[in-house]
Amino acid sequence: MSYDQHDSHESEPSTATTVQLNHTAVYAGDRRLSAEFIAAILGLEVGAPFGPFLPVDLGNGVTLDYYEKRDEPIQSQHYAFLVPDAQFDAMIARLEAVGVTYYADPGHTEPGRINRLFGGRGAYFDDPDGHNMEIMTRPYARP
Ligand SMILES: [Fe+2]
Repeated sequence: MSYDQHDSHESEPSTATTVQLNHTAVYAGDRRLSAEFIAAILGLEVGAPFGPFLPVDLGNGVTLDYYEKRDEPIQSQHYAFLVPDAQFDAMIARLEAVGVTYYADPGHTEPGRINRLFGGRGAYFDDPDGHNMEIMTRPYARP
């Protein structure tokens, strides 16, 4: 495989501003269970199966394609969702209703608490496969 050499020119816009994450596969032991879990917590819909994938569309055009890995251990990944402040309390209430513990910190040492990072609110919780899910009302502010 070869890659084209590309010389940067001042007159060309950077592709960094136009390249967008479109979808990612999320490994699950049971794609239906895991897709319906996150959709229920976040107030989203599970889409129709697309081949081996069960999609959950997010508001910024990114699709989480739940994909089953039944016979292999699933490596925990981290997914962070920027959510409307007005819906944060409802999401916490849904976690409580289904008995899923949420934490203020990514290491899960502060159960039943939320954080107030960057002037917003946030919490972490495990999905059925142990993926570390995060909801936050303000994006991280990077220097
Ligand atoms: Fe995060």
